[in-house]
Amino acid sequence: MKILLLNGPNLNLLGKREPEIYGSQTFEDHFTALQFQFKEVELGYFQSNIEGEIIDKLHQAEEDGFDAVILNAGAYTHTSVGIGDAVAGIRTPVVEVHISNVMDREEFRHLSYISKHAVGVISGFGLKGYELAVTSFI
Ligand code: DQA
Repeated sequence: MKILLLNGPNLNLLGKREPEIYGSQTFEDHFTALQFQFKEVELGYFQSNIEGEIIDKLHQAEEDGFDAVILNAGAYTHTSVGIGDAVAGIRTPVVEVHISNVMDREEFRHLSYISKHAVGVISGFGLKGYELAVTSFI
């Protein structure tokens, strides 16, 4: 099983960015812990602040041998028809993850262009959401 963790804009700032919402751990540290926890799974990680790069990664996921994608598209979740269309257009299953509970935040975060096309949505469990998403595939 090979799973891609795909993070969108500003998630490179995890650990520094609004720690009261997103926690104080960097994603790199969390990714290392996930690799240790799920030794039987080959985990890949890519982060981009660029919408088109996220779309390209989704398109390439199958060719790159990934069985599934765990996608936190950050703010693009609420704005990007293109990322939603990419998730709809690929065969690779996608789980949508949010660190915070987006439904308990500003109204503009309640809309997701991804959810409809995702296998499921995990939101509000902090970084543990990525672990829950991996578990959903194994
Ligand atoms: C987020 C929630 C989004 O609304 C926000 O723009 C992010 C992070 C989350 O993980 O909670 O950048 O996707």
